Amino acid sequence: MESKQSPPEEKKFYVTTPIYYVNAAPHMGTGYTTILADIVARTKRKQGYRVKFVTGSDEHSQNIADKAAELGLDPLEFCNRNIPAFLEAWKLLEISDYEFYRTSSPRHREVVQKFFQRIYELGDIYKGTYSGWYHTTDNRFLDPSEVPEDPESKPYLKFLTEEAYYFRLSKYEGYLLEFYDQHPDFIHPDFRRTEMLNRIREGLKDLCISRSSTEWGIPLPWDRNHVFYVWVDALLTYLTGSGFDIDAALAALERGEDPMAVQPAANFWPCDLHIMAVDIPWFHAVIWPAMLKSFGIPAPKKLLVHGFWNFEGTKMSKSKGNVFHPKDAVALVGADGVRYFVVREVPVGLDGNFSVRALAERYNYDLANDLGNLLHRTLNMALKFLGGVIPAPTVVFPRDLEIKELADRVPGEVIEHYESLRFKEGLELAWELVRELNRYIDTTKPWELNKEGKKEEIGTIFHLLIEAIRRLLIVLSPVMPGACDRYWQQLGFEGRVSELTFDALSETLPENHKVGQPEVVFPRLDLEDLEEEFIRRKEALTGEKVERIAAEEKPAPKEEKMAEKPTEEKEWIEIGDFMKLNLITAKVLSAEPVEGADKLIKLTVDDGSRKDRVLVAGIRPWYDPEELVGRTIVILDNLKPKKLRGVLSEGMLLAATDESQGERVVRIVTVDGEVAPGSKLS
Ligand code: MSP
Repeated sequence: MESKQSPPEEKKFYVTTPIYYVNAAPHMGTGYTTILADIVARTKRKQGYRVKFVTGSDEHSQNIADKAAELGLDPLEFCNRNIPAFLEAWKLLEISDYEFYRTSSPRHREVVQKFFQRIYELGDIYKGTYSGWYHTTDNRFLDPSEVPEDPESKPYLKFLTEEAYYFRLSKYEGYLLEFYDQHPDFIHPDFRRTEMLNRIREGLKDLCISRSSTEWGIPLPWDRNHVFYVWVDALLTYLTGSGFDIDAALAALERGEDPMAVQPAANFWPCDLHIMAVDIPWFHAVIWPAMLKSFGIPAPKKLLVHGFWNFEGTKMSKSKGNVFHPKDAVALVGADGVRYFVVREVPVGLDGNFSVRALAERYNYDLANDLGNLLHRTLNMALKFLGGVIPAPTVVFPRDLEIKELADRVPGEVIEHYESLRFKEGLELAWELVRELNRYIDTTKPWELNKEGKKEEIGTIFHLLIEAIRRLLIVLSPVMPGACDRYWQQLGFEGRVSELTFDALSETLPENHKVGQPEVVFPRLDLEDLEEEFIRRKEALTGEKVERIAAEEKPAPKEEKMAEKPTEEKEWIEIGDFMKLNLITAKVLSAEPVEGADKLIKLTVDDGSRKDRVLVAGIRPWYDPEELVGRTIVILDNLKPKKLRGVLSEGMLLAATDESQGERVVRIVTVDGEVAPGSKLS
């Protein structure tokens, strides 16, 4: 990363994804890489950098030619048809301001031809014969050691014997070893660098860079009977997309001058960060720097090699039908939910696993509960106790100073984690602050302070809370731009936090800032509904019925669902059955959150016979404990007591669940007028 002293015009950053094969629709594997690149791009923009974010389509592959032929299409036409699905997926995932380059574009063809013409003239390319196996899915020439025992039986392997041109990769072994030595941070994570280095040390073979048995590709300018091997063509996209002026560079090289010194302001080469998965670092970490060295320009500055994503425990594969599409992922948990999930779920270099359950749980625990609750209760109480107007802090206790210290320190540390490509660790830190803020509310109990008329203490608490949340949103917005923008508005701030730079961290909350109304951004999700929705989408896509889990293996249907059944299917009960339920009224004497459980509230009630009866209810997403005090509720008196999170609940409170607006809203049942505690319902 560049130093802080660089003049403003030098603050440029160039990030890329691989140039994807467009023979199939994008899935959440390619989605993941693109999300990471977007988070980097958004972070750098927030640091005041001019950012170039390049992705694109790799079109000259054998599998594209084959697939197009199967469909009776011209390969270009086939690519034209498939590319919109990628653009659509990136839009759904809220990928920002990227440039999409196609390897079939005339400009790219020109750059490729000029680049290799120079290398050819320098003597780094020579003619030979390729005789060996070619992997048509991976688009690579197999090393003899990789050839399976019965290659003929593998439909994706093709034996080629053809005239071919070679790049003298072996010549660059010494250069690469020295380069790795001088750039210890070239590859993140470090263990991938060690892998590459070990392979280089085993010795490098020259690389076949042309094919003469296919016409689909960019012709070699000095021998039109050959087209460039798809990989070397694709790598050049990073240069085409960078704004690099190859003509100016060639002229400078001709004059014996530095080709980088003659580049226009629009040039972003050398690239700051190439992002990819573990399948392709060899091309990026070895072949690419060697080719650039041969041409005479610098290597990229850094590579991020992330892990592979599986779906429901197995490698995503089209043939197995277990590909997880961005469209489905977004339909389940929204773009912010997906982006948060992939970043939070695994450290960036390791493999991950998508499952509907994992997505739902991450979403419910971290977003609906931790973050959603924090925002909801903070705004709710700020409106209730302060009329929404946040005064300057006055009475300050050590507990307040601790929160201020955290809120001042954590956002900067989150950015540092992003900077060092440790995104998961950044979010974990941010969530420590989220949880600390929730705990701060639980321990300061603003509802009690309100009853005691301690307005100034309340003012300080909410000033600190709103300021801490403001700072959190600034650093969370590269990961969850849409949700942070919505929360930003609810907090009463103008514009979009996703468009602000990190300079906003050094601002402070204006005096008497007015907050807005809370609105649910992450409605809680029901796993069963989500699984059904996923199956439904899969059926719509494949046209095949997916077998559901047998009804008896499923958890019992929820009561509100039974009520929707047509009359003839109703399970009638006798009045005697109803009489078994002892429903009585009770008055809430006190209420408090249950330690370590985000949803639960512990109520102490007067049931007519005792004033210390305890009930535990999962209503915290919809109620602040202090709102419940003094209310007359309805409880199921003869329900067997049960321990919930270490608290013995002696009965159950009745509540209505409204899901008519798409999100679950729970309201407790109360009685009309004054009724003595312990009154029986019938
Ligand atoms: N066309 C080449 C890249 C040329 S770059 C000069 C290619 N394309 S690809 O479509 O196969 O994309 C591979 C990349 O897609 C991986 O490196 C990774 O970034 C992403 N992923 C594809 N499947 C993935 C997973 N299942 N999990 C994680 N990333 C995945 O290779």
